[in-house]
Amino acid sequence: MPEQKSEQKLILRALAGETLPTPPIWMMRQAGRYLPEYRATRAQAGDFLSLCYNSDLAAEVTLQPIRRYGFDAAILFADILLLPQALGADLWFVTGEGPRLSTTTTESELAALKDKDAIHEVLNPVYETVRILSRELPKETTLIGFAGAPWTVATYMIAGRGTKDQGPAHALKAENRAVFEGILDLLTDGTIEYLSKQIEAGAEVVKLFDSWAGSLKGEDFDRYALEPAKKIIAELKARHPGIPVIAFPREAGDKYIGFAKATGADCVAVDDSVTAEWAAEHVQVDGCVQGNLASRHMVSGGQDLINETRRIVKAFSKGPHIFNLGHGITPDADPDNVQLMVDTVRGR
Ligand code: CP3
Repeated sequence: MPEQKSEQKLILRALAGETLPTPPIWMMRQAGRYLPEYRATRAQAGDFLSLCYNSDLAAEVTLQPIRRYGFDAAILFADILLLPQALGADLWFVTGEGPRLSTTTTESELAALKDKDAIHEVLNPVYETVRILSRELPKETTLIGFAGAPWTVATYMIAGRGTKDQGPAHALKAENRAVFEGILDLLTDGTIEYLSKQIEAGAEVVKLFDSWAGSLKGEDFDRYALEPAKKIIAELKARHPGIPVIAFPREAGDKYIGFAKATGADCVAVDDSVTAEWAAEHVQVDGCVQGNLASRHMVSGGQDLINETRRIVKAFSKGPHIFNLGHGITPDADPDNVQLMVDTVRGR
């Protein structure tokens, strides 16, 4: 017998276009350093990457914010940089600084990377984390898988680290477009295989993080943010009909408009550089929107947090909405402020 609509998970109902009286809620980077229980499990694992590849402990940290706050969705604990590692790049994290990778900027470095079908050997523990989670999550909680969008992942592979303005990636695009596009094509194909396996393991929704989409302007945005998203989504929809996709072209500005229609995404996540009122008018007209409370409220809390949360809920109340932050929660956030946000959204 098909599931009654009212018995479906709230996140899936919002993604199907339903306007709910109370928006479902989860939070980017909800498993993270602001939680003492995360820090304890990470210490047990040894370091961040060991935690990502330890399926039992990765499942444990994924579940921690669900136990604490009862979020409507759990996001698989992993990282967008595991895919380049699976393609053969060296990856390590420098404490207090962030990721480091061996760089890919030449024809021969690109050729030395592995084929898209060779990634699973490294990524198998991630799929095992998904399988554990699909068994252990509460029945009302939606499991979200994810990957980085090709452009964002490429910015790290080209620079060998995070950069403020994505300068090295823009430079390679200008100086050797063939290699630049070769990296993006490989990442696009690898992302399809990676997300497909996450879905087969039990992910009910997938999200594509294009954190640096905002630095692509005009035609570059269309070619390197929109087109890869469209290709990935089309192939996932062909292989796994009915699995919703959330796209997050962060800081896309006016390029948020029409992004869902152009790519086939079921939901567009908006950062906090646009107002909820603007996004309701220009983005939510095409379907579900996710966002967009500024992460700093998780540090500062108080009446501002309550007012902003209510304003966002109200602005998006006439259409499908998933409440979230505009970007990931930061390590200096106060766990009590997260509870205050959840209570405010749920009217408690
Ligand atoms: O949201 C979640 O709870 C799921 C897990 C998740 C992580 N990273 C865990 C993580 C997800 C979805 C990501 C995505 C990710 N990773 C993005 C895109 C989203 C965004 O925030 O823009 C990017 C750009 C990365 C790459 C990355 N990973 C960076 C730049 C860093 C270092 C910066 C930092 O916050 O320290 C990471 C590390 C990372 N990924 C941590 C976590 C919990 C912190 C690592 C630690 O425990 O020390």
